[in-house]
Amino acid sequence: MSTAASIIAELERLSGEFAALIAPLADEQAIRAAQAQFLGKKGQVSTVMKELGRLPPAERPVVGEAVNRIKGAIEHTVAAKLADLVARARAADLARVVDVTLPGRPHGGGHLHLLTQVRLEAIDIFAELGFAVAEGPQVETDWHTFEALAIPKDHPARDMQDTFYVTDDVVLRTHTSPVQIRTMQAQRPPIRIVAPGVVYRRDDDPTHSPMFTQIEGLAVDVDLKFSDLKGVLLHFVRRFFRRDLDVRFRPSYFPFVEPGAEVDMQCSFCGGSGALPTGPCRVCKTTGWVEIGGSGMVDPDVFAHVGVDSERYTGFAFGMGLERMAMLRHGVNDIKFYYEGDLRFLQMF
Ligand code: DAH
Repeated sequence: MSTAASIIAELERLSGEFAALIAPLADEQAIRAAQAQFLGKKGQVSTVMKELGRLPPAERPVVGEAVNRIKGAIEHTVAAKLADLVARARAADLARVVDVTLPGRPHGGGHLHLLTQVRLEAIDIFAELGFAVAEGPQVETDWHTFEALAIPKDHPARDMQDTFYVTDDVVLRTHTSPVQIRTMQAQRPPIRIVAPGVVYRRDDDPTHSPMFTQIEGLAVDVDLKFSDLKGVLLHFVRRFFRRDLDVRFRPSYFPFVEPGAEVDMQCSFCGGSGALPTGPCRVCKTTGWVEIGGSGMVDPDVFAHVGVDSERYTGFAFGMGLERMAMLRHGVNDIKFYYEGDLRFLQMF
């Protein structure tokens, strides 16, 4: 039969046992576990307290007082122990020897993606000729993408096979040419802009990707001639490829220009000879020329859609693919490399 004295003795014993248990512990989790083992609902102190109810009422206050004292002591020990842990960790941290004179560990520096480099470079080159950058939305109206560019309803570009439709009247732009329209709606001539940007087509093979990048050019002014277009593109090619390559224009049809032409340049791989020291040039298929884009004089129909007086103004426009430019300069032979994010590719440029 427990007496007040025996319960108090047991509590004192537990208090001592706790002190011994906790002394060597050095991490918070273990300290908390020990605390729970003694003070928790099913802890050893609680078990002893159950005896309390069996004592004569007169003896209970003495024991209650002892319980509170011992609980307080345990809690105090825990708090002191935890504070000690924090202090030790901080002291260890401060005691660490840091040699601030050690050379830093180099981090591989990042750089711009090849396509971004090419885009910025193209912008710079056209800027030398007075072209400013213009932009337009990638999700574009059918009207800006096709209608205003005089692309008729039965043109294959308007087919579901070639164009991603968002709704009947909204598409993912298939070229950067709608920026011509937006620019002419927003400003009066003289106009000189280039519009770099992403475009979308339902195409997917080693030379075509459903998403790729173009740069569009537009100049509108009095007296602009086809020879101005030629001069601009010749300047671009020579600056971009850093070689005296030639350009040539082949008559071609784009609904929004008249006359229209496909632009070729001398092959940057074989320098226009069609042959490499190792054999026939495969980039230009031995012809010495590679196609780089479309161009022409702005069709009066287009001017009519945006309210530019075609009696007074003429203009020229061109559009080129930036992946192709990068390919011709750096020999990238699969368009997917640009978008895969493979470090082995990214680190080459
Ligand atoms: N937008 C045409 C395409 O993506 C390229 C083009 C051709 C742009 C002739 C032009 C141009 O500005 O005059 O195929």
